[in-house]
Amino acid sequence: MAKLYINEKKKKGRINPEIYGHFSEHLGRCIYEGLYVKEDSGIPNKNGMRTDVVEALKEMQIPVLRWPGGCFADEYHWMDGIGPKENRKKMINTHWGGVLEDNSFGTHEFFELCEQLGCKTYINGNVGSGTVQEMSEWVEYMTFNGVSPMADLRRKNGREEPWKVDYFGVGNENWGCGGNMTPEYYANLYRRYQTYIRHYDKAAPIRKICGGPNVDDTNWTEKVLETCYAKPHGDHKFHGFMDGLSLHYYVHPGGWDDKGSATEFDEKTWYKTMYKALYVEDLINMHGAIMDQFDPEKKIGLIVDEWGDWFDVEPGTNPGFLYQQNTMRDALVAAVSLNIFNKHCDRVKMACIAQMVNVLQSVILTEGEKMLLTPTYHVFHMYKKHQGAELVESSLLENVMTGNEDEEVPALQESVSVQEDGSLLVTLANLSVSESFPVQIALAEMKPSEVKASILTNAMDAYNTFDEPEKVKEAVFEDVTVTDRGVSFTIPACSVVSLEIR
Ligand code: AHR
Repeated sequence: MAKLYINEKKKKGRINPEIYGHFSEHLGRCIYEGLYVKEDSGIPNKNGMRTDVVEALKEMQIPVLRWPGGCFADEYHWMDGIGPKENRKKMINTHWGGVLEDNSFGTHEFFELCEQLGCKTYINGNVGSGTVQEMSEWVEYMTFNGVSPMADLRRKNGREEPWKVDYFGVGNENWGCGGNMTPEYYANLYRRYQTYIRHYDKAAPIRKICGGPNVDDTNWTEKVLETCYAKPHGDHKFHGFMDGLSLHYYVHPGGWDDKGSATEFDEKTWYKTMYKALYVEDLINMHGAIMDQFDPEKKIGLIVDEWGDWFDVEPGTNPGFLYQQNTMRDALVAAVSLNIFNKHCDRVKMACIAQMVNVLQSVILTEGEKMLLTPTYHVFHMYKKHQGAELVESSLLENVMTGNEDEEVPALQESVSVQEDGSLLVTLANLSVSESFPVQIALAEMKPSEVKASILTNAMDAYNTFDEPEKVKEAVFEDVTVTDRGVSFTIPACSVVSLEIR
């Protein structure tokens, strides 16, 4: 029997809601069709945003949305996406399928979407092919309340009030698609560009995100921090030149050149995927240790603003659109990743899964007017009460190792938080595809009287289709017993369980 010890008295920090964030890029059918269908579409919408998708994302409690990319961000010129739609400049989306981008979804549409979702905004600026002036004017356009050329232009385009930009990313993957820069070169550009992200509303300063490393490139982290880290001073209300450093990490079981099918895989590949998913904890520790040297008080957040599974595209779809299906394997990767982010909430302040709709590890897939919720969606839904809660100490004893001979993983993975009302949320994943495990939860002081539990379980390769959209779905988990000593149950193989304990 596995034992899960919870010391609910030992609070370990607030789980920033933004850890449950999402990413949307002008890539494939993410923005167009997935989120935005235009006002005159036969698909029900409000101001062009699909109602079914918006409702599902609100129910999942989306806290923050990053836009417009990704690699697209460093090719995006925001002025092409404002004003009358018929006059907007078109461009070729060279990164993603070479398709024509008509810029009908731009700044005003992004803020409309976030207003409908009730979420925070994370804009990613263009360093790779954009100028300092362009970036600085975008910030003025979005956030200046007074009379100025850009604020007046915004008003002319129909928006009187400024919007709130919560986070601003200064470039994306500038070691790669964002300009193929060296860390030294990017770091100097970062210092310069970030200077002109003005906090026009002093009461609502914009948090600046510096472009961070690719996977385990610690040299990038070191070099960038050496040049860009600055203590808070003067007008910098927050943390010197940056409030966050980004990290991107995708799980490809066979490596970049052999990602494998999203739906057809064997047990060996399942465990390889889990093994690689757990590696994100090493990355957090690795980059976190470097950040600690500069920022021991952990004021700068590690912003994992792209993460998730990246497999081969669905057969017959545009290779540049990165459309993949989503199975129980993705659900378990989401579950363990979110547990890890929770447990590192002292440093990880935001994480955005890639990408929200129709691209990579999506929570929603669409096909014309049809929509389905993926297994990954259900995990985010089951975990939503972790948002803003306090992480508490937890540890698993007698946890079984499982997996491949050279790629073993601990079968059970947990995290636990306490809500303001004193109730606990326990989220537990069982990575074993074949073994169930009895679990005994022991609490330090709390005498539980009630448990509300949910479960997501199915075959390892089960997924939802437009013909069978509810094959994999969160269900009530009945078989939970409240004892004098805590809570006990058996967690089935290949499953995710959430328990709200009062
Ligand atoms: O999410 C797809 C792409 O992956 C993003 O555009 C880029 O930032 C990353 O390489």
